[in-house]
Amino acid sequence: MIDVQGLVDPKTGLVSRRVYSDRALYELELERVFARTWCFLGHESQIPNPGDFVSAYIGEDPVLLVRDSRGKINAFLNTCRHRGMRVCRADAGNAAAFTCTYHGWTYGNDGKLVGVPGYKEYYYEELDMEQWGLVPVAQVDSYKGLIFGCFDPEAPSLDEYLGDFKFYLDIHFDRRDGGIELIGGVHKWIMTCNWKFASDNFTGDGYHLQVSHISAMKVGMGGGGNQLGRLAGTERYGVETGNGHACTLNFQRDRLGANSEIQDYIESIYDEKVDRLGDLRANLSTGAGTVFPNFSLLGTPTIRVWQPRGPDKTEVWAWCFVDKAAPAEIKEMQRLNYLRTFGMSGTFEQDDGENWNMCTWSTQGHISAKQVMHYGMGTGKETYREDVPGWLGPKVNEIQQRGFYRRWSELIVADSWAEVPNHNGNGHNGNGYH
Ligand code: FES
Ligand SMILES: [Fe+2]
Repeated sequence: MIDVQGLVDPKTGLVSRRVYSDRALYELELERVFARTWCFLGHESQIPNPGDFVSAYIGEDPVLLVRDSRGKINAFLNTCRHRGMRVCRADAGNAAAFTCTYHGWTYGNDGKLVGVPGYKEYYYEELDMEQWGLVPVAQVDSYKGLIFGCFDPEAPSLDEYLGDFKFYLDIHFDRRDGGIELIGGVHKWIMTCNWKFASDNFTGDGYHLQVSHISAMKVGMGGGGNQLGRLAGTERYGVETGNGHACTLNFQRDRLGANSEIQDYIESIYDEKVDRLGDLRANLSTGAGTVFPNFSLLGTPTIRVWQPRGPDKTEVWAWCFVDKAAPAEIKEMQRLNYLRTFGMSGTFEQDDGENWNMCTWSTQGHISAKQVMHYGMGTGKETYREDVPGWLGPKVNEIQQRGFYRRWSELIVADSWAEVPNHNGNGHNGNGYH
């Protein structure tokens, strides 16, 4: 058994570099993080009709997310029960049944095994087909159209798992009637970095903006030329709500529009936001956030999953999301803004990937691997307000990353969910601050 104690100190924010490069720790991560937590599978707008499906992953396990002919959303391990072939090899589509391309076993869109070539002649009708349907993901549920799956039947419900973080998710996903939809398909690419560098950055690394992205901002990418300036007089925080979820939080009406048309659109929905979210939240904005472990969002607007592919490889799956009720021309402008800023060709995305790749390489050298990472900015300055959930780190802070890695280490050392502390709804106690 590898030593998993002491890798993360959430009080000081020091994290062992082993957590980014050690193969045994990575295997443990697949078991104790990804096989036990709720991971993002897709959005309801991708599978509106019976038979609609998309492929997904939980960790390295392929998952088929499908709405069955009766309209129920299911998720299954996407491997044939016969000899393990990928049952569905398409990214998305509509099917009443899925036929394995190896020997032809066929599964209904409810996961049941419905056809076996040679059932009479070669199996003598002795194969119990009831027993050989696709392996279901133990728990599947959705929040505001976002569908998550969890392989652990003992895990808390999705509602409990997201907990206080729902307060912040709503600002992006529930500000208009009809919620959001994903447009333009999924973009996938591989980065040679550990997945946690991406997840932790997207909890809201406000510190790197003024260095890594400054050139892109100066030329006005994504309307970003004035982003830092616009935040200068704003009360801003990093926030972590327990359970590893974290985001940035600005006490400022959202004016993140990439151009004046988008800004006008955001202003035009203000009253609707007040109706749906209340006065307080209609006047809050969040730039970046991560739902532990690997689902992140950004107001550009994009959501993405950082799929782990080994300690030093991450497959990014990114989508553009828009308000379903937005005018078509606004949706198109937002899609283009997403492509230009983030996504595989996005200017900001290039900056980030370069950093994370090199950070990962620095965890692999014999001596450099023995060092620690520093997530200690703003320790002891954690605070809270009665009007918003979670603990706050004022201004630019690394409270979000400390919350993220605290959760990671709690899961890594725990043998079961019963041993994992619940920081949710903590009334601002129990997160180990003050
Ligand atoms: S592996 Fe699927 S039918 Fe044989
Ligand atoms: Fe970035």
